[in-house]
Amino acid sequence: MNSAFFDRNLAQTTPFPFGIKVSKAEGVWIYDDHGNRLMDLISGVGVSNLGHGQPKVIQAIKNQADSYLHVMVYGEYLQAPQTLLAERLIEILPSQLDCCYFVNSGAEAIEAALKLAKRVTGRTRIISARGAYHGSTHGAMSVSGNELKKRAFRPLLPDVHFVAFNDHSALESITKETACILLETIQGDAGIRIPDAKWLQAIRTKCTETGTLLILDEIQAGMGRTGKNFAFEHFGIEPDILVLGKALGGGLPIGACVANKSHMEQFTTNPMLGHITTFGGHPLVCAAAAAGIEVLTKEVDFEEVVKVADYFRERLTAHPKVKEVRNKGLFFAIDMDNEEEVQHVVNFGLANGFIGFWFLSCPASFRIAPPLVTTMEEAEWACNLMHQAFDALP
Ligand SMILES: Cc1ncc(COP(=O)(O)O)c(C=O)c1O
Repeated sequence: MNSAFFDRNLAQTTPFPFGIKVSKAEGVWIYDDHGNRLMDLISGVGVSNLGHGQPKVIQAIKNQADSYLHVMVYGEYLQAPQTLLAERLIEILPSQLDCCYFVNSGAEAIEAALKLAKRVTGRTRIISARGAYHGSTHGAMSVSGNELKKRAFRPLLPDVHFVAFNDHSALESITKETACILLETIQGDAGIRIPDAKWLQAIRTKCTETGTLLILDEIQAGMGRTGKNFAFEHFGIEPDILVLGKALGGGLPIGACVANKSHMEQFTTNPMLGHITTFGGHPLVCAAAAAGIEVLTKEVDFEEVVKVADYFRERLTAHPKVKEVRNKGLFFAIDMDNEEEVQHVVNFGLANGFIGFWFLSCPASFRIAPPLVTTMEEAEWACNLMHQAFDALP
């Protein structure tokens, strides 16, 4: 086995890690220790939406580092970076989403959302969708769809039920016994599955009728990835609980569970400390995230993002080796004939200058999710190289 990590006393998650030795990262580029550069077409899996080393985010981190780092577990002291981040996030969200719980990762925010739904409704039945990915902790894995990844870790959470994504049969499963339905607004790891607006709207209505909470996981699809601040804006619906992570932190680790204050109060009493975290809301992370939201809202031009996305779509679709391209904004799945072709494209990229990646639950597709700041010239460069990869297929 290639043991690049184990040999260095690090846990290794696959038998074949990329093993790039990173020396620096800037904009859309990652540089290895020999000075070779690779275009990061996946934004570190949906994180570096603003590009690597965004100067305002870096400056905010430096300023905060000069003031204070950790001072207390979450929920005791009032820390200005947390307040600022909540303020900036609330400003761009629907009015009922007015209370943020900042944690350390996407999975942890999913855990918080599921716990909150149980407390608010007094119910235990949780619905999720086949093909979903919500994280790798026990609770988040319980509501994820990929049986291959789950089997070895059972027993998982009880009373979790799976429905088909974007299928009307799902509506029947939502009843007055249901605590919540948890959905990725656009399924990411299932290969960028974009639901019909009518389906999501019908789910929203059924949730309201039955007192079921609608939780949207926008850990990957949020923060501008789809060409709007949040993916739900494309579908004319709003969630009861929104879960964020990844790009929200501007490159630092974060998760957020956002809900209405009247719901979030459930964590305050009976029992008090209903959800707690030492490092959640860390001042350095919140300072970076707050700066990131300012850049997203003031400097990212969504019209340009959509233009660049349309260009990628057109160029990729044009190659005869590509079976299908699915995207919303710069959130892309490119279907090839089979897993081997995907492997070839990813390997070609590594050898020739771009980073593409697999999906967990869609083996014949590869993902790209370029930074939102990718220019048309950079997009052209990447598409030319991807065409060379497709041309080189047997
Ligand atoms: C949609 C979605 N939800 C949850 C997660 C889990 O987030 P994290 O890896 O930060 O725990 C991910 C991570 O890829 C994700 O894409």
